[in-house]
Amino acid sequence: MKVKAPLVERIKGHIVENPVSFHVPGHKGCGSFMDTGAMDLGGFLQYDLTELPGLDNLHCPGGAIQKAQNLAATAYGVEGTYFLVNGSTAGIIASLLAAALPGDAILVDRGCHSSVYSGLILGRLKPLYIQRPVEETTGIPLSIHPREVEKALGRDKGVKAVIITSPTYYGVCSDIKKIAETAHQKGALLIVDEAHGAHLKFSDALPKSAVDLGADMVIQSAHKTLPAMTQGSWLHIMGSRVDRERLERMLGMFQTTSPSYPIMASLDNARYMMENAGAKHLGEVLGYVRDARHKIDALDKGLFCPDGEYFRSRGSFDFDDTKMLINCAGAGLTGSRLDQDLRERCGVYGELYDAVNWLGIVTVASRREDFERLVGGCVGLKTVPDGDRVLLPSFLKSPVPAAGMDPWEVLDRRLISIDLSRAENRIAGSSIVPYPPGIPLVCPGESFSAGAIRQIRECMDLNIAVKGVKHGQVEVVE
Ligand SMILES: Cc1ncc(COP(=O)(O)O)c(C=O)c1O
Repeated sequence: MKVKAPLVERIKGHIVENPVSFHVPGHKGCGSFMDTGAMDLGGFLQYDLTELPGLDNLHCPGGAIQKAQNLAATAYGVEGTYFLVNGSTAGIIASLLAAALPGDAILVDRGCHSSVYSGLILGRLKPLYIQRPVEETTGIPLSIHPREVEKALGRDKGVKAVIITSPTYYGVCSDIKKIAETAHQKGALLIVDEAHGAHLKFSDALPKSAVDLGADMVIQSAHKTLPAMTQGSWLHIMGSRVDRERLERMLGMFQTTSPSYPIMASLDNARYMMENAGAKHLGEVLGYVRDARHKIDALDKGLFCPDGEYFRSRGSFDFDDTKMLINCAGAGLTGSRLDQDLRERCGVYGELYDAVNWLGIVTVASRREDFERLVGGCVGLKTVPDGDRVLLPSFLKSPVPAAGMDPWEVLDRRLISIDLSRAENRIAGSSIVPYPPGIPLVCPGESFSAGAIRQIRECMDLNIAVKGVKHGQVEVVE
């Protein structure tokens, strides 16, 4: 029989396998925390409405949506909160365009997500990059040091904004307080991509959120680490440096005119849930993480679970311990092999893997039994007999490729597709992005070096999906 709705069929097929979720979205598909008493999201289609009388309008809110946004602002202790229904991507682009005019310079954490590069292109902005040091054993990028920000802002005058990701996908946090002070001394705004940190505000056992550390705009994907629906995010503004009118104009352009009520309702519900019981549940799941780490470390299989203490002792400013990280290099396995094994034998799905690590995202909706399945999966893991360490690929330690032109300049140029093997010294027409984590190896306008080509090949050899490479070809400026 012909499949009529292949995506629906595929999703149903996935659900009946009773999979364990260590990935986003934060509600884990299990319905718990969705029924908080305020609303039952189980039957959320009833909530799929439109701008009916009494239901307010996201683009000019004055009723229920404004009240929900105000409650979120109060929960986070900020001047204003904007609901985002196109994910943090829309908020990041809008924040950059609100902060700077075409031609203005922006200091950019080179480990930023691809949405930042989209913002640079759309705003015709000039990026100046800061590179992160990389931790030797795990290959995980460490914090951005405030001194590097100070140096860069001293070198290049007139930078309008600094944009930094904290925590990173892996949970590494930078010293936002000092970075904010430095940025403000030099007259620049600080935008923090806190896509992975919407939960931080709700537990004293976690690093502080950038909303409390002096940032001017903070963008959070509630859908990643809170029990909210995919695409549900918010942008917070603090202090008086941000031009709110310009920001609202930008948000109006980058957000759909048909915002989803279920998404907005799930944001309202997630805020309500976290305010009332977030600290308690985060405390519980942090206990499950600690326990799972001890058990996995004790297996003597060459697996180890780096935690906050590990990263802080290696120069990271801080670390979000809701990240369940397993380093598998000592077991002679790549992250991709471990991920495949956990999926196929135990139905445990991770959020991200790389050459030597597997990462699970843990939220208030994670259950004790999920960790039991994960630990059980590691107990039954067949490691490589002689346990040779897997080597870190060089792409984790790569320098920034040389810029041929600013990213936006590529937009109006004619692009051609050529074989990756012939791309050396050609200017990239589109980003080359291993996904996840979604950090470009090469940005539009940068020149393909021999090293960059080798790094792209390494990613593909590790079974990491690389956006921007199609049938072995990449786009370059003609
Ligand atoms: C660091 C970071 N920033 C921004 C985004 C974009 O967020 P969203 O998917 O909510 O648009 C992501 C998505 O993975 C991310 O990892």
